[in-house]
Amino acid sequence: MVTFPLAVGQLRPWREGDEDSLVHHASSRRIWNNVRDFFPHPYTPRDANSWVRSNRSYQQPNNLAIEIDGQAVGNIGFTVKDDIYRYNAEIGYWLGEDYWRRGVMSEALPIMTSYIFKNFQVNRIFACVLEGNIGSMRVLESAGYRHEAIHRKAAVKNNQYLDEHIFAMLRSDYRALNQSVNEY
Ligand SMILES: CC(C)(COP(=O)(O)OP(=O)(O)OC[C@H]1O[C@@H](n2cnc3c(N)ncnc32)[C@H](O)[C@@H]1OP(=O)(O)O)[C@@H](O)C(=O)NCCC(=O)NCCS
Repeated sequence: MVTFPLAVGQLRPWREGDEDSLVHHASSRRIWNNVRDFFPHPYTPRDANSWVRSNRSYQQPNNLAIEIDGQAVGNIGFTVKDDIYRYNAEIGYWLGEDYWRRGVMSEALPIMTSYIFKNFQVNRIFACVLEGNIGSMRVLESAGYRHEAIHRKAAVKNNQYLDEHIFAMLRSDYRALNQSVNEY
């Protein structure tokens, strides 16, 4: 089973029994304000059931639960794009508000990045961050992602046009980063 230790818990596959804590931690306007509209709000038990059902028991899951104190309190995952973008993975993540600003996602993102490059035929991992989401931008920068572009007013959230910031890491960046880490 794919699991990775964290200072305060672990990354591990979603499983039956996670539904209640998923509902509790995902039902947050502050999370929803920074993710795509398809992320349910409010987050119902039905949403949680279908999330867990579609993400449990994969050999190499695309989504991993962030477990803290024995509870699933967040997610980090990716989707591989298609057609001419088929070597791109879009990464996304969220964490229950109770655990913000404790370095959890700064620890989880490099682990997920490494898991993707080691196990999937992906040449580029990217993330789309809405303007003002300083926490997410910091997480990406500290993991070595490059701020590539600003798509001006590309997104609409809460009836407001927002800039979208694109961050990306290429497989060659990842290799260079790990070579320099291993030298020390
Ligand atoms: C973005 C998010 C994942 C950050 O997770 P986190 O575990 O709280 O982040 P960390 O504690 O690792 O913080 C990383 C850095 O960002 C800073 N930071 C975190 N939240 C911040 C905020 N709201 N405002 C300013 N800085 C913030 C931290 O101080 C830290 O700075 P440092 O690298 O200089 O030490 C979390 O806030 C979240 O789930 N937000 C809602 C969903 C979301 O935005 N998903 C990403 C969509 S692109």
